[in-house]
Amino acid sequence: MTEIIKVGLDERSYDIHVGHGLLAEAGVLLKPLVRGPLPVVTDLTVGEIHLADFLESCGKADLDAHPIVMPPGEDSKSFAGLAELSRELLDTGVDRGGLIVALGGGVIGDLTGFAAGILKRGVSFAQIPTTLLAQVDSSVGGKTAINAPQGKNLLGLFHQPRIVIADTALLSTLPRRELLAGYAEVVKYGALGDAEFFSWLEQNGAKALAGEKSALIHMVAHSCRMKAAIVARDERETGERALLNLGHTFGHALEAATGFSQRLIHGEGVAIGMALAFELSVKLGLCPNDDSDRLTRHLKAAGLPSAIADIAGPRPAVETLVAAMGHDKKVKDGKLTFILVRGLGRAFVTNDVPLDAVKDVLSA
Ligand SMILES: NC(=O)c1ccc[n+]([C@@H]2O[C@H](COP(=O)([O-])OP(=O)(O)OC[C@H]3O[C@@H](n4cnc5c(N)ncnc54)[C@H](O)[C@@H]3O)[C@@H](O)[C@H]2O)c1
Repeated sequence: MTEIIKVGLDERSYDIHVGHGLLAEAGVLLKPLVRGPLPVVTDLTVGEIHLADFLESCGKADLDAHPIVMPPGEDSKSFAGLAELSRELLDTGVDRGGLIVALGGGVIGDLTGFAAGILKRGVSFAQIPTTLLAQVDSSVGGKTAINAPQGKNLLGLFHQPRIVIADTALLSTLPRRELLAGYAEVVKYGALGDAEFFSWLEQNGAKALAGEKSALIHMVAHSCRMKAAIVARDERETGERALLNLGHTFGHALEAATGFSQRLIHGEGVAIGMALAFELSVKLGLCPNDDSDRLTRHLKAAGLPSAIADIAGPRPAVETLVAAMGHDKKVKDGKLTFILVRGLGRAFVTNDVPLDAVKDVLSA
């Protein structure tokens, strides 16, 4: 039972394959796209668990795979990580007609996509996402980046993959905390644009998180379908794509204030950020309180944090958070861009939010 979702971007269109056990078929799916050596970039953790199966599938398709193993963690998305990866990619001899595979979470996908985009002025790449966050979000849409000392994801380019292969079976080895962090991005799709999907998650989200195959495939595929549709309409984020940042202005500020550490991982920041965006929308008289309560209830039921007080350690000061929002790259003409909601599934972009209301929500 594989679902195939098309990302419609003219000559840059590609398919997202979502299914259970797809890694075994990856070699066959990739084969038509490969010419010459096939570099496969992964991280040490994913490599130890899943690389052998992927290499076996490449072997069956007669592909000449060259594994490149990076250290796990955000630090690899850096100048140093890019330099190391570029050197190794060049050593494989891959050229502009070839393909590079990213086998890993969002870190490996973002880093590999960026390296592929600049290597020899652009080599094609394929995404085989191994975290829930990467399967429903980062592997789709072509945003690639590394971090700069000044902030996250500040150096990058739009470089669409040629294919995305999301094997939901790979999620069974993911630590529970990482799985839940990815689930926050799933909830985001319902919260921003699909109230029916939100209701489906209320009924079936726990089953999907417990690994029930059909629920998991539907959840990943539906999320990809929503992202694919938005990206097809607004590839370069000049408008609608910004809705995907629901919860991210607050979330990034919380991540920054907690030092981008294990105190709060990205998806957890998004979960709290979404709850705060709904609270802000209620405060501004835009959204029914019931919808905000439903969102918070569902995040809690899933085991996600939904309030600043849920973050372990000292509470970040309101002024620190406001300052961090000012540094967020979604600032335009000195105004903060917020994604607010008129209810579940009804998000919109605004830069007309009174700072006092933001501060009230942050101190509540
Ligand atoms: N490009 C985009 O559109 C986009 C969107 C959202 C996030 N991102 C980026 O994604 C990154 C976060 O991605 P992530 O949450 O996937 O983190 P990650 O890539 O760091 O993976 C999280 C951890 O899980 C491990 N892991 C991965 N797959 C596993 C598996 N199947 N089994 C066991 N362990 C596994 C990894 O080794 C790592 O330690 C951030 O850098 C963020 O900026 C990019």
